[in-house]
Amino acid sequence: MMSVRIYGDPVLRKTASQVEVFDEKLGKFVDEMTETMLEADGVGLAANQVGMARQVAVIDTTGGEQPPLVLINPVITAKSEEIVESDEGCLSLPGITLPVKRPAQVSVEAVDQYGKPFSIRDASGLLARALQHEIDHLNGILFVDHVSALQRTMVSGKLKKLAKTGSVNG
Ligand code: NI
Repeated sequence: MMSVRIYGDPVLRKTASQVEVFDEKLGKFVDEMTETMLEADGVGLAANQVGMARQVAVIDTTGGEQPPLVLINPVITAKSEEIVESDEGCLSLPGITLPVKRPAQVSVEAVDQYGKPFSIRDASGLLARALQHEIDHLNGILFVDHVSALQRTMVSGKLKKLAKTGSVNG
């Protein structure tokens, strides 16, 4: 299992670079990320979170029932006007859950770990949220960046503790 970087680690704020080589090493990296996500009970994991600012993310909305969705170089190509609010958390911000407003539906274009392009049309629900959350990570954006100033003030103590000690209880 890879170690997951915690809020305050500068790699979480980096813009991930494009993947250009689709080799065995990439496949192994994707497998390790998937394993780490599943062991941590996460819905998604972006490469920045394991210390590599590369455009790689994995998503599992099935609790490990189905193979993960592997997204390399993903881009959001369409967003719905409809906005929905739902609680979000992140493996890099343990102990923090906040309601986040996001477009209800998104379409995404990406390639898989073999370099084969695919698109996801009008994803909704948890998948839409996970896609936006993970693609944000690849752009150095965290879910706490989307919450209201008031909510952010309310968790500022926890964020400071996280950055300092790696835990909200520290
Ligand atoms: Ni996250």
